[in-house]
Amino acid sequence: MSAESFDVVIIGGGPGGYVAAIRAAQLGLTVACVEKRGSLGGTCLNVGCIPSKALLQSSHKYEEARHDFAQHGVKLGGVDLDLAALMGRKDKVVSGLTKGIESLFKKNKVTYLIGAGRIAAPGGVVVAGPDGERTIAAKSIIIATGSDVTPLPGITIDEQRIVSSTGALALAAVPKHLVVIGAGVIGLELGSVWRRLGAEVTVIEFLDRALPPFDAEVSKQMQRILQKQGLAFKLSAKVTKAVAGEAGVTLTVEPAAGGPAEEIAADVVLVAIGRKPYTEGLGLDAVGVALSPKGFVIVDGHFATNVPGVYAIGDVIGGAMLAHKAEEEGIAIAEILAGQHGHVNYEAIPGVVYTWPEVATVGKSEEELKKAGIAYKVGKFPFMANSRARANDDADGFVKILADATTDRVLGAHIIGPSAGDLIAEIVLAMEFGAAAEDIARTCHAHPGLGEAVKEAALAVDGRAIHI
Ligand code: FAD
Ligand code: NAI
Repeated sequence: MSAESFDVVIIGGGPGGYVAAIRAAQLGLTVACVEKRGSLGGTCLNVGCIPSKALLQSSHKYEEARHDFAQHGVKLGGVDLDLAALMGRKDKVVSGLTKGIESLFKKNKVTYLIGAGRIAAPGGVVVAGPDGERTIAAKSIIIATGSDVTPLPGITIDEQRIVSSTGALALAAVPKHLVVIGAGVIGLELGSVWRRLGAEVTVIEFLDRALPPFDAEVSKQMQRILQKQGLAFKLSAKVTKAVAGEAGVTLTVEPAAGGPAEEIAADVVLVAIGRKPYTEGLGLDAVGVALSPKGFVIVDGHFATNVPGVYAIGDVIGGAMLAHKAEEEGIAIAEILAGQHGHVNYEAIPGVVYTWPEVATVGKSEEELKKAGIAYKVGKFPFMANSRARANDDADGFVKILADATTDRVLGAHIIGPSAGDLIAEIVLAMEFGAAAEDIARTCHAHPGLGEAVKEAALAVDGRAIHI
């Protein structure tokens, strides 16, 4: 086989693409991954999950130093913010991790091609790189080109005054007033970062609650907690205009249902109303790959598009736009192409919002179960009654487990609390195993541990929690 011919060519080096590449190589396939960004890791590592979590961690430490250390008996002379150092640390984390993926490619003998990929025909990818164009042959092509920011009609994102998440990860100064459009995951995470660093933050949301797709009880309580921290919410409202000038941005805001408009002044505006599939320049029209009306690549249960030999995974096919969902799909498609039985269980994909406290969710919400007419039991346990959370002085939130009323099988779980994003893993595993709430309830959890709240919520499904 010539160097320009591969079993699999993957377009896009994000969590979907790079994981597919490594898994396919592990399985003995020859693999090339085409990425035009100049670094691997996609949205997630470069301008998404990782830089946002780095900023969340640093800003959390700053807030703790300013407000929480004293009650632990730790006295500081004064706390100053060095925003440049904070951003520098974030950039270092990003470059370390993206370079780490290059090393993983080398270790696994994945060929990394820098450039923009275009599907010339089934079996052929044109790579436009720094040294011109070259065509490579592929038995299978995987589209893993991810997603991009959804724009708001009539509002121009300049990444200075009116920013997307990418601009909000790299502001040069703390804005006096940050207005966030969209009370979704990005709005609440990056809104929290800048509030902790000293900005006044107003979140404008079209629907009537924050985190609209989450379990309603979780949305409501999380909004209350964030309000207590200082985030202001303007719900059931829409931004119809944003004019950026020297001094800042003037927003025109109306009630979602219509009514008199008002003007709000902001120093910086963050547009965070969702993401859309990214297929620009891929040549999908020419080869006839079918897209949904919203632009997602349509695939079957084995990630195959309508064009033989062309597959797609990750954000570009829709569903939960999450890195770990893209990674699972990357592993599954590699295994399928190697003749194995790759599979993704979409019923057990966790979602985490990395505010503090964190929000974590898996499976069905109460609203979804009601809508589906499924009888369920609820077990709930507050962190106020968990000894570790109390010792840590971090006792906001609860664990809620939803189990089938007849079989006791766990159908969903929703957590607000310290390290909720890690605690949910136990329940995801339980759901993978088809466990009952009773299985979790009878599992020994170390004391004192936050995980005991999960056990107690499972006990509460049967009305027998001990510590409440
Ligand atoms: P992407 O990561 O978008 O990667 C696609 C890659 O393809 C890109 O690098 C792009 O340059 C490349 N590409 C596109 N077209 C071409 C082409 N023609 N040729 C060559 N290369 C091309 N998810 C989580 O699970 N947890 C989080 O904490 C989290 N935080 C986030 C925070 C922010 C601010 C944002 C914006 C997103 C966050 N996400 C998070 C979502 C996560 O980043 C995405 O779900 C994930 O990156 C999707 O992976 P992907 O491989 O499908 O696509
Ligand atoms: P989102 O879908 O989470 O939230 C968008 C919000 O904007 C929704 O509440 C929606 O009702 C609202 N909205 C839509 N149009 C509006 C308008 N015109 N005016 C006011 N509000 C409007 O999308 P977000 O926050 O942009 O994130 C994009 C994707 O990135 C998500 O799919 C998410 O899964 C992923 N992500 C994941 C993270 C994580 O896992 N921790 C962190 C950040 C992003």
